[in-house]
Amino acid sequence: MKTVLHQLGRYRRDTLLCVAMAALEVVMEILLPFITAIIIDKGLEAANLSVVYRYGILMVVLAALSLVFGALAGKCAASASAGLAANLREAIYNNIQTFSFSNIDKFSVPGLVTRMTTDITNVQNAFMMIIRIAVRSPLMLVFSYIMCLIISPKLSLTFLIAVVFLVAVLGCIMAVTMKIFNEVFRKYDDLNASVQENVSAIRVVKAFVREDYENEKFSKASSNLYRLFVKAEGLLAFNSPAMMLAVYFCIIMVSWMGAHFIVGGTMTSGELTSLFSYVMSLMMSLMMLSMVVVMISMSMASVRRISEVLNETPDLADPADPVEKVADGSIDFEHVSFSYKHGSGKNALTDIDLHIKSGETIGVIGGTGSGKSSLVNLICRLYDVDSGAVKVGGLDVRQYDMEALRNQVSVVLQKNTLFSGTILENLRWGNPDATEAECVEACKAACADEFIDRFPDGYHTRIERGGANVSGGQKQRLCIARALLKKPKVLILDDSTSAVDTATDARIRAAFAQKIPGTTKIIIAQRISSVEGADRILVLDNGRIDGFDTHEHLLESNAIYREIYDSQIKGGGDFDQSAS
Ligand SMILES: Nc1ncnc2c1ncn2[C@@H]1O[C@H](COP(=O)(O)OP(=O)(O)O)[C@@H](O)[C@H]1O
Ligand SMILES: [Mg+2]
Repeated sequence: MKTVLHQLGRYRRDTLLCVAMAALEVVMEILLPFITAIIIDKGLEAANLSVVYRYGILMVVLAALSLVFGALAGKCAASASAGLAANLREAIYNNIQTFSFSNIDKFSVPGLVTRMTTDITNVQNAFMMIIRIAVRSPLMLVFSYIMCLIISPKLSLTFLIAVVFLVAVLGCIMAVTMKIFNEVFRKYDDLNASVQENVSAIRVVKAFVREDYENEKFSKASSNLYRLFVKAEGLLAFNSPAMMLAVYFCIIMVSWMGAHFIVGGTMTSGELTSLFSYVMSLMMSLMMLSMVVVMISMSMASVRRISEVLNETPDLADPADPVEKVADGSIDFEHVSFSYKHGSGKNALTDIDLHIKSGETIGVIGGTGSGKSSLVNLICRLYDVDSGAVKVGGLDVRQYDMEALRNQVSVVLQKNTLFSGTILENLRWGNPDATEAECVEACKAACADEFIDRFPDGYHTRIERGGANVSGGQKQRLCIARALLKKPKVLILDDSTSAVDTATDARIRAAFAQKIPGTTKIIIAQRISSVEGADRILVLDNGRIDGFDTHEHLLESNAIYREIYDSQIKGGGDFDQSAS
């Protein structure tokens, strides 16, 4: 709660203004019935027109003022809540940018998106309601009751019965609905997650003809929500009859006792009229207050989810005295163990001890889940090791400035993305200052030039969001070119040519050997043909090193390597592409 409110920033002024305006509005509204009483008693009953005029004008002025204050309060509330939402969004966005991969793993991408959209909107709406009504209602309640007490202490006591009744009924309803709403929000999360997953993976769903299954799953989740909502709203519907009951009880009491008092001469008819108004606003504000309680409880879930993201601290930090320059492309793993949930669960990598010289080309091979991606993610410090050390250029990666390290260790991730924008713009993610000639050069090395040249707009072709208008293999080649533009000391390709045909794959490797001979190259691949030309090949199995030698030696001594080799030769070479 505090974390979220802290984000109000410069909108704190609007919030306070809104509260002040709402208070003034209440004061005006409270005075109105009082003046009505004066008009009736001193003007109408005494047949004194000048009193009617004088107080009539005062009434109009007060009403106008109340209108103005009300409008101002509304405007301030809108500005304060929209401002809060904007600040929250920005704060979350900024914080997410500092997140490491493991921070993001913790929330999941759909989770972060929901928090930035639905949850913030919830908080914005609730905040607007709260600063207007949460101030208005209690004030109204107290003032109205004080006025009632001033007019007729005896009658006011009977209202207490109605108030107690109403509080009891509303309280019960609130308690139950709040429980249901908490449940609703948990279910919402599930529903959102399933929507995001299925919509973003709609191609896979269609390819596997899973539409019916997914539809049914969704209908079930959605009708669950429907039932809960109907239950909650159905209960809330009792608010209004309960309030009406209390109101009519009060009106009958006022009429009945008021009539006696007037006949007895202890009350004027003007006072009776204003008493009616006060009773009404008393009950109204109680009702409003109950709605605010519901609102608050509904937004609490969102507030909690937002502050979780805001309070998350990135678990990778630059050292106090960061090194900017990577000396060379040598890589050393010294008895490294690593798990995604630090210390708990299964290790993704166990006791990896590995030394790679600068400029070497290393192939990495192993089954899915054997830890290939995990291994290379440690080199550019996307994750930190649990024990041991990863060194690049002779220095522990934790001693480098992260940005400098990642600029000099360029990785083409297995799950890669292009961004909406032209091809040139995408390439310049690698190096913002790259000239067009340098970009073309990089594309040549990555064998991307051949298809780019066929596009009518060439290098100015627009890439749709997520790279939807290029094929898998084209996307991979653009990502390689983007990584090359960094002119890195270490280049890592994580299964980056899986969708590229064997011949092009070979040409890309030949271009690497010719154009960037000094760069250490680590090539993860599924095909033996992609790695057999490497200086040395690393065979990973279940997070451990199974072999690290040349192609020829491995064929002789390594059972896993020979098995993969045999299966691919028999399978006809190129038909072994993994399903991933
Ligand atoms: N982000 C992650 N969170 C938790 N576990 C993960 C994550 N990424 C991979 N793993 C697990 O770590 C192991 C190694 O995965 P990975 O390095 O991606 O294998 P490979 O790239 O060889 O297919 C697998 O058991 C996988 O389930
Ligand atoms: Mg992988």
